Amino acid sequence: MVEHSIASIPADGIGPEVISAGLEVLDAVAARDGGFTLKVAHYDWGSNYYRKHGRFMPADAMAWLRTADAIYFGAVGDPDLPDDVTLWGLRLPICQGFDQYANVRPTRILPGVTSPLRDVGPGDLDWVIVRENSEGEYAGHGGRAHRGLPIEVATETAIFTRVGVERIMRYAFELARSRPRKKLTVVTKSNAQRHGMVFWDEIAALVSHDYKDVSWDKELVDAMTMRMVLRPRTIDTVVATNLHADILSDLAAALAGSLGIAPTANVDPERRGPSMFEPIHGSAFDITGKGIANPVATFWTGAMMLEHLGEKPAAVLLMRAVEQVCAAGIMTPDLGGKATTKEVTRAVCEAVRGMNA
Ligand code: IPM
Ligand code: MG
Repeated sequence: MVEHSIASIPADGIGPEVISAGLEVLDAVAARDGGFTLKVAHYDWGSNYYRKHGRFMPADAMAWLRTADAIYFGAVGDPDLPDDVTLWGLRLPICQGFDQYANVRPTRILPGVTSPLRDVGPGDLDWVIVRENSEGEYAGHGGRAHRGLPIEVATETAIFTRVGVERIMRYAFELARSRPRKKLTVVTKSNAQRHGMVFWDEIAALVSHDYKDVSWDKELVDAMTMRMVLRPRTIDTVVATNLHADILSDLAAALAGSLGIAPTANVDPERRGPSMFEPIHGSAFDITGKGIANPVATFWTGAMMLEHLGEKPAAVLLMRAVEQVCAAGIMTPDLGGKATTKEVTRAVCEAVRGMNA
């Protein structure tokens, strides 16, 4: 029996509600599979921890996390704290500290879910957005001078390195190659941004020579938003910079029915340290504590985590259970349903138990 160790960081807002639902479902999957167990370490880091200790996680947090095979993360953000402080206090130090440079964001329309796009249903939209996760516009490079004066200045410099761009392109081409359509769209803005983005395009072209079996095209980010809405079937795998992919992935989630189902994996493909798995939706204070948070993003995230841990059949089983429950109309209000977080969780656990392996 294999034991996988998971570091659980539910953190803020609806994070604790969805992560506890996720752990419950993952336990059911492990029991059904019979080939592995999950040993979970629970960490209470986040904004409440910050209020008590003046930091979002302890000084030796990274050493603790390093002992895990994967990190299961809820959400960080607090109505009383600036968003840049919470983000740079917890999530980004983990992503950047473990150099989880590939952020993988699959989008599909699950059965039973209605897309806001006319005549688009399950099967018409099956994308994976690969987000560069270590540099670009999120490098944290910049500063402010002459604070409060009329001549005050702020800079936010996007960083593109040869190593950083090449590795994300290789990851994206590999992923595109592993998918049936073998098709990659490189998102850019090299018409306007003539340094970083031209460099980005050049490296994409260089890397493409090693992937002759993958057909690829380039799309400007503004045109990409239109293509996602008007010609969704022309898209399969997408690679984009940190900020471009951040924006496109919200659009993708909305087109697939709800941000409440969108999962993500912050991956270190070289496996030097743990990768981190989280729902995209964030802390959602407006519905925190109401028991109606959609746990599906966290379940899908859990399936990505299982796959990363080498438990592919268990991951497939979990997604089939989630799809079965969605198809039966057991959904939270963000998807137009009436079910609570607990009801969806119970239904998925039952589906897992009843599923033929
Ligand atoms: C995401 C989120 C975050 C991001 C926020 C919470 C800072 O929008 O994961 O897409 O911009 O990276
Ligand atoms: Mg985002």
